[in-house]
Amino acid sequence: MSDTTTPDRYAVIGHPVSQSWSPFIHGMFAKQTNQNISYSRIDAPPEEFERQVAAFFQTGGKGLNVTVPHKQVAALVARYRTPRAEIAGAVNTLMIKDDAIHGDNTDGAGLITDLTGNLGFALENTRILIIGAGGAARGVLGPLLAAGPEYVEITNRNENRALELAKEFAALGELRGCGFADITADRSFDLVLNATSASLQDFVPPIPRSAIGPATLCYDMAYGKGDTIFTHWAKTIGAGRAECGWGMLVEQAAESFYLWRGVRPDTKPVLEAIRDQRLPPK
Ligand code: ATR
Repeated sequence: MSDTTTPDRYAVIGHPVSQSWSPFIHGMFAKQTNQNISYSRIDAPPEEFERQVAAFFQTGGKGLNVTVPHKQVAALVARYRTPRAEIAGAVNTLMIKDDAIHGDNTDGAGLITDLTGNLGFALENTRILIIGAGGAARGVLGPLLAAGPEYVEITNRNENRALELAKEFAALGELRGCGFADITADRSFDLVLNATSASLQDFVPPIPRSAIGPATLCYDMAYGKGDTIFTHWAKTIGAGRAECGWGMLVEQAAESFYLWRGVRPDTKPVLEAIRDQRLPPK
């Protein structure tokens, strides 16, 4: 409720963190839902992470978003974890409940809401290719498999990581791990998800063109001004659609906000506001 008391304190913790859109997003959510909160950035190098988290909650902080490179350590810092955070082995949302730190992971839910809600993509019975087998892939694999795809293939530069991840999640659905050279390429996938950090290095993983067709949605979990190098490439080779991860970013934030405040914000105006700011001038 809006009042004149001290705002409840929230923050995003990462390293680096100056580029984070979370203060902007949560600021808009708070205004829209009339919540009296403050939201700041905490830059914490790995050796400072645990101490900074403890200090934040000891001084009355209510909740933290955790970003690169701390999501896996955050899972260890939380005394309690939700099942989805447990499966992901990573936490992006911390909160204090009954004097204990609780951890959750809203990344997968954010991706699913963006795909199914914002982009109108039904995941049931689809064939999905996930590129990447690091923390980003691990964070969304459980919720993706729970959405009922026909089949998920995980491919990675380091093939062993893909094989390991596929093995670890084998009980949750139909999936296979492989190196880039062994991607099933006899027909196109319905969804190709780039969960690598290659876009940040201006690099497109070597995916066979036949894996992508006019009915394929290509989704880059990375985001930038306009297209990422991956979404640009996907459009060039004839993908039906190519989207970058702004929607996932806003939806995972909305899910965190809901966990903290018990109110679901409307994500549409926030996505529109970000879209206005991120596109290069025409
Ligand atoms: P994150 O937590 O962001 O997923 P990570 O665990 O370091 O970070 O994983 C990064 C992912 O991007 C990995 O799948 C990595 O592939 P490797 O396991 O082979 O390292 C992938 N990646 C990073 N740069 C890449 C590049 N230039 N080409 C292909 N894959 C790349």
